[in-house]
Amino acid sequence: EAVPVLTIDGPSGAGKGTVSRLVARRLGWHYLDSGALYRAVGVAASWADLDLSDAAALVRCTFDTEVRFREQGEGDLRVLVNGVDATGELRLETTGTVASAIAAIPEVRAALKERQRAFRTAPGLVADGRDMGTVIFPDAPFKVFLTASAQERADRRYKQLNDKGVSVTLDGLLREILARDARDAQRTVAPLRPAEDAVLLDSTGMPIEAVVDKVLSLVRPAA
Ligand code: C5P
Repeated sequence: EAVPVLTIDGPSGAGKGTVSRLVARRLGWHYLDSGALYRAVGVAASWADLDLSDAAALVRCTFDTEVRFREQGEGDLRVLVNGVDATGELRLETTGTVASAIAAIPEVRAALKERQRAFRTAPGLVADGRDMGTVIFPDAPFKVFLTASAQERADRRYKQLNDKGVSVTLDGLLREILARDARDAQRTVAPLRPAEDAVLLDSTGMPIEAVVDKVLSLVRPAA
């Protein structure tokens, strides 16, 4: 029998990462942060000083970049890029922008396809991204499309960055979020859109725990 997968797709800042991690922990399932793979390639490309318009070099870089996830203590997930802990750099807004440019290259997406599918191991997988339910795991029995208003997504991101002491403006963040959403939704390969069989969940105004419970109820209706 196929290993079950719960896909959680949606735009940046909708809370996918937090919700996916919590749901995976509650189910005892593995977790795939697919955005981290694109971000890791972005970081490796910056380290190598690659030109973002040189698609061939970026594709080679994708094949050459080794990404490992390591859980370090309770819920602290570190990401190693070619053996170097790049967790902090990975989370930067600039890295997200680079990742979104790289993610528009079809050969980059193709190169990462099997690597993502390899995460599907027993007892189950929670996969977080943009195309988990549409392209990578189309046969997943559980699919969620998680959204929130752009304003709320910018507010959440602003608080997160503020807590970390990073200085940003709310306006600038909102603009970046809208630009990245537009790029992710308009690209020709694997554009951001809900799978036909996905459950749409708008988390605007919902506390994280309520979103987690709602998602869990899809996987375990009886619990
Ligand atoms: O989810 P996260 O913000 O980490 O993703 C960074 C970028 O990687 C996104 O803006 C998107 O362009 C790309 N991405 C993607 N497909 C995925 C996950 C992320 O294209 N499954």
